[in-house]
Amino acid sequence: RDLVFVTAEAAPWSKTGGLGDVMGALPRSLAARGHRVMVVSPRYLAPSAVKRYAGIADTGVRARLNLDPPGAAKGAGGGGVHEVGFHHLHQDGVDWVFVDHISYHREGTPYGNAAGTYGDNLFRFALLCMAACEAPLLLHVGGHRYGKPPGLPYGQNVTFIANDWHAGLVPVYVAAKYRRHGVYREARCVLALHNLAHQGAHPPRTFNSLGLPGEWYGALEWVDTGDNGPGGGGSATGSQDGGARHHLQRVSTINIMKAAMVTCDKLVTVSPAYAWEVCDEKGEQGMGLTSLLRQRMGDLLGIVNGIDVGEWDPRTDPYIPRNYHEGSLGGKGLCKAALQQELGLPVDPAAPLLGFIGRLDYQKGPDLVLGVLRPLVAAGCQVVLLGSGAADYEEAFTAAQKAFPANVRAHVGFSVPLSHKILAASDILLMPSRFEPCGLNQMYAMRYGTVPVAHGTGGLRDTIDDVNPFRGEGFTAAGGMMGDNDADKELDELFEKGLAWGRPTGGRSADDPSTNNADFYEPFQDYFGAGGRYGAVADGAEED
Ligand code: GLC
Repeated sequence: RDLVFVTAEAAPWSKTGGLGDVMGALPRSLAARGHRVMVVSPRYLAPSAVKRYAGIADTGVRARLNLDPPGAAKGAGGGGVHEVGFHHLHQDGVDWVFVDHISYHREGTPYGNAAGTYGDNLFRFALLCMAACEAPLLLHVGGHRYGKPPGLPYGQNVTFIANDWHAGLVPVYVAAKYRRHGVYREARCVLALHNLAHQGAHPPRTFNSLGLPGEWYGALEWVDTGDNGPGGGGSATGSQDGGARHHLQRVSTINIMKAAMVTCDKLVTVSPAYAWEVCDEKGEQGMGLTSLLRQRMGDLLGIVNGIDVGEWDPRTDPYIPRNYHEGSLGGKGLCKAALQQELGLPVDPAAPLLGFIGRLDYQKGPDLVLGVLRPLVAAGCQVVLLGSGAADYEEAFTAAQKAFPANVRAHVGFSVPLSHKILAASDILLMPSRFEPCGLNQMYAMRYGTVPVAHGTGGLRDTIDDVNPFRGEGFTAAGGMMGDNDADKELDELFEKGLAWGRPTGGRSADDPSTNNADFYEPFQDYFGAGGRYGAVADGAEED
């Protein structure tokens, strides 16, 4: 089966975090395994990004996408008709398809700018999804290596892999628009959950601008009773349930993630532990969608992300001052000295160097790091912080550097070279995430001989323990949002007591169904052939 990934981000063209990294790396590994793979993503042609898209050819193919409800009278308040273009690059065996529309040509991230989140994201991503449904039918690309004559479109027998809510309308369009016309009958849709904190909830009236038949409103509707977790959402059956729970406060929205969950064929999360956590009855991680996820447990599989072992390799990394490997750790010491010097910290091999890299939002726990700076500094540690995001965290980072000028450096912003340097130079990487669907930095760290100290949550549990295929070493402390632990307090206490850097929990517990997911696994193999696990990069990591 040919695979079509649909995503808001794909590195190196666009990236705000792990999603971009994975969408840059995973399709390449799948192509290397012999799959025919297309990735459909927006062409974010901001004036400052023109160079990034140079050399990517305009296929000349245009599609007129109709976001009015079918059969609606002209000008009846629908989404209108919009023309998109398709640009294409065949690279590393992958057909990279960039959807061109003026609403993608803005400075800023894929989702917003300094003024906030773009107000028309639902429109921008609906357009992406509709264009992605057209791409396998319209584009005469690639195909040469796969037993098909060059230039044949992928056609109808594809498996769409829709990543997060931005791509969530793909299974909805396949079900509601294409199949009713006999198209994509044999296509399959997988919803890949990278982060349930973002669900694409919008006011009910926006339904009319998605190009969907009216009878599909119920599939998108979601009733938030405010009683079920930070993501909102109420019970799984939403408005259909009409139960007593809903009499207090009914806030009806359309929720793209929910719609994708009910229309997709299979669901994957980016780690087995996250699959288990989001289905946990306590509902702490499902962000309001727990009961719906539980209904689909039989179709849900957790597959841990891999990393790009070519980009993240201390033996060849061009960003670090000295390359090294397991057998030549002196090089790592030189990287540490170089970073200390570059940042104006005392060059001291004996001072423990602790790194933190991440989006500055509540999920990643930057406040937990800031909260323990004083004891760390008192213990003689140096701490290097890198990240951007919420303004109050950014200010707190800057203030921390001022407060501890001899020990703390904070770089507010995003820098690929600096993130490589920090991972190579640090002795310890701090990842006190409150929840973490997978997390990649801990895997990068382990490849650089840097010990991750993390909350035992989500993918951190799967990748940092001594029985996982990455052979990762590190420490996870009980915490995150799981269980009854008061994560913040516990981690603070651990640090204060100077207890190593956390408490190893031994990874997943025995009653965790994700430890034995053969049942989930079996039916899913059909979609990717007998090869199984598609986090192919894990293989590469084992080779070394
Ligand atoms: C999201 C998650 C992160 C995961 C990444 C890639 O950013 O928050 O845990 O590693 O997606 O799947």
